[in-house]
Amino acid sequence: MPSIVVVGSVNLDIVATAKRLPVAGETVTDAELGRFPGGKGANQALAAQRLGADVKLVARVGADSTADEALTLLRKGGVDLSNVESVEDMATGVALIAVAASGENQIVVAPGANRSLSPESLTIPAADALICQLEVSSEAIAKAAQDFEGFFAANLAPAMHVDVSVLQRADLIIVNETEAAWYGDSLSACTGMIATTFGAAGAVLTKNGEDLARTKPPRVEAVDTTAAGDTFTAALTVALVEGQPPEQALQFACAAGAAAATKRGAQPSLPTREEVLALL
Ligand code: RIB
Repeated sequence: MPSIVVVGSVNLDIVATAKRLPVAGETVTDAELGRFPGGKGANQALAAQRLGADVKLVARVGADSTADEALTLLRKGGVDLSNVESVEDMATGVALIAVAASGENQIVVAPGANRSLSPESLTIPAADALICQLEVSSEAIAKAAQDFEGFFAANLAPAMHVDVSVLQRADLIIVNETEAAWYGDSLSACTGMIATTFGAAGAVLTKNGEDLARTKPPRVEAVDTTAAGDTFTAALTVALVEGQPPEQALQFACAAGAAAATKRGAQPSLPTREEVLALL
C-alpha cells in the first residue's frame, strides 16, 4: 500500500446539471441542483485512498459549516485529515459547476481559504509520493516540491504560471490537452514523465519527448466528467509508485478516469480499485 501526501484544495461543489452548457451572456434554465464535496486536492486524495493508498491531505478550509460538508466523504473514506487546518475569517472554497447532458462541464472556483496555504505554513509529512495541483498558492507548491524527497507528481491544473523549479523537480506531470497547449514548450523543462489526457480519446505518457505508452479508455457512458482528471492523476501516481510498468499504469489510470465519468458529482463518483479492475 503506497503512502501518499496530497497538498491541495478542498471545495464544496454547487452543481447545476442542464441539457447543455450556456454560451457567454446566455441563461439556460430547468437545471437540477446538487451539492458535492470536491476540490482537486481533496478529489485526488480520496481517489488515491479508494484505489488502495494510505493518504494524508495537507489543506486549508474556512471555519464554517461549508467545511464540514466539504470534508464529509474524505472523513468517511479514511483520508488522514490531521494536516487540514481551519482558518478563521476565511470561507471554505466553493466551485460553481455547470454540467451538460453530454457530461461536459464548466467550472468557476472561489478558492477562499485554499489560497491561504502559504510556503511558511507548510509541513509535508514523509511518504512514498506527493501529489500537488494548482488550486493553492503556486509558492506553496514550489516549497512542497523542494522539501519533499519521494516521487513528486504535479497536476498542472488549472493552467497558470508555475515556477520552473516545480517542472524540473517533477517525476510526473499530468495535464489535459488544453493545459498542454497553454504550457507549450515550457513543459520541456521536465525531465520526468509527462502524461497528457485527451478525454474519451485516451492518454499518452512521454519522457524527454519519447512515447512510453499510449492508451484509450474503456468505453463508458459519461454522465459527468467532473473529477475524471483528478481520478486519472491519483490512479497514475498510485500505479507508478506501486511499480506497475508505464503501459499498465496508463491503462489503469484511463480506466479509473472513465469510471469516475459514469457517476454524478466529484467525490461520489471516485471509483474503488475493484471497480477499476472490473472495467479493465
Ligand atoms: O477537478 C474537479 C474539481 O475542480 C471540482 O471538484 C471543483 O471543486 C474544482 O476544483
